[in-house]
Amino acid sequence: MKPLTNKHILLGVSGSISAYKAPDIIRRLQDLGAKVQVILTQGGAKFITEHALQSISQNQVHSNLWDKKAELAMGHIQLAKWADLILIAPTSANTLANIASGKACDLLSSVILASAAPLIIAPAMNQQMFKSNAVSGNLKTIASRNITIISPDDGAQACGDIGPGRLADANNIAAIVAQQFHTTELTGKNILITLGASVEAIDPVRYISNHSSGKMGMALVNNCIELGASVTCIYANIQTELNQRASNIQALSAKKMHKAVMENISKQDIFISCAAVADFSPKNIAKDKIKKNADDLKLILKPNPDILQDVCKLPKKPLTIGFAAETKNPLENAKLKLKNKGCDAIILNDVSGADFGLNVDENEVVFLSQNYQQKIAKTSKQKIAKKILEIFIRKFL
Ligand code: C5P
Repeated sequence: MKPLTNKHILLGVSGSISAYKAPDIIRRLQDLGAKVQVILTQGGAKFITEHALQSISQNQVHSNLWDKKAELAMGHIQLAKWADLILIAPTSANTLANIASGKACDLLSSVILASAAPLIIAPAMNQQMFKSNAVSGNLKTIASRNITIISPDDGAQACGDIGPGRLADANNIAAIVAQQFHTTELTGKNILITLGASVEAIDPVRYISNHSSGKMGMALVNNCIELGASVTCIYANIQTELNQRASNIQALSAKKMHKAVMENISKQDIFISCAAVADFSPKNIAKDKIKKNADDLKLILKPNPDILQDVCKLPKKPLTIGFAAETKNPLENAKLKLKNKGCDAIILNDVSGADFGLNVDENEVVFLSQNYQQKIAKTSKQKIAKKILEIFIRKFL
C-alpha cells in the first residue's frame, strides 16, 4: 500500500515563479496515493493557471475567500476540516508573512488558521529576499510553532541570481509529506458506514421514523478515520455533525439508502450497517396531505429491502458488521440475526432501558461473532466505537 493512500492533502500555491512546478508536486503526491485539493492565491494565479491545477488535481481549485456560493456552506471551514495535512508549495515571502503574523486576509491564510491539520511550507523566492532579516525572522517565528519548513535549494534562479530560494525538488517535497503519516491499523482500507434514522414518507408532510440519532454511527466514522481508513458515510436523519473528512451521502429512505449502498459497495473492504432502517414503508405515498376524518385510517406497509442482508449476499462481499437493537431476549435474537443476515459480526444494543442505545450519548453493547462474544461496559459512544473496532481488527484483519 502507498504511504499516502486515502490521505487528503490541501496544497496552497502562492505567488512565486516556481508555482509552475505545482502540477508536478500534485502528481508526486498522487503517485503516493494522496487525494489533492488546491488553494491558489492571487499571487500564485499570476504564475500558474487554475485550469492546469484543476486538470491535474481533478478537483475544483479554490481561490476566493468571498465566494458567495462556497461560503454559504462555510467553504473555508469545510476545506480546513477536509485536510489531513496542508502543504504550501511554493510559499512566497508574502504568504510566509501572513502565516507568521496569523493573518486571515485571503482564503489560504484563513484555512490555515481554521485547520487543526499539520502544516508544511516550502518557501521559494529570490535569494536576497530569502536572506532578508524580515523573512529570516518570519521563518524563526514559524519554526517555533511546530510547522515543518522544507528549505529551498541553492542554485540558479529564474531572475538570474544564484543562491538559496529555489523551490525544493517535487519528489523530496512529496517524500517529506509522506513521512508525516505513520500507518495505522485501518490505513488504506475503504469503509462504508450507514447511520441515522430512516425516514419513510406517508404523504408530503408526514413520515414514519425512529429515535436513532446517528451518534453511534458517527463515532464509528470518526474512529475509522482516525485509524487511517477512507470512509464513505451514508446517512439518513441524524442529530450529530458530519465529519468532513468522510465522503458524505444523504439517503433518507430505506430504498434510497439501499441504492446508495449498492452503488458504493464494490470498492469497500468493510461495511458497517449502523443505520436504524425501517423494516416497512407505506405501500403508497399519498400525493396530497391526508385529510382528517372520523374513520380509522388504514396504512398499508410493505417490507423494505434489507440492505445488510443484500450486501452479505454479494459474491464479493466485504467484511460486514451489523447492529441489533433489541428489547426482548436480546442475546438469542442477536445471535439469530448474525446467522440470518450472514454478517461477520453483530453489535447487540439492548434498548429496553431508557439510558442506553437510541438518542443518548452513552451505550452498553455486546460484540458477537460466530465463535466470540464480548461485553463492552457502559461508556461514551466514542469509546464504544473505539472498542468495537479494536475487537474487529483483532478478530478479522
Ligand atoms: O432486522 P433488523 O432491522 O433488526 O436488523 C438490524 C441491522 O440490519 C442493522 O445493522 C441495520 O442497519 C440493518 N438493516 C438494514 N436494512 C433494513 C433493516 C435493517 O440494513 N431494511
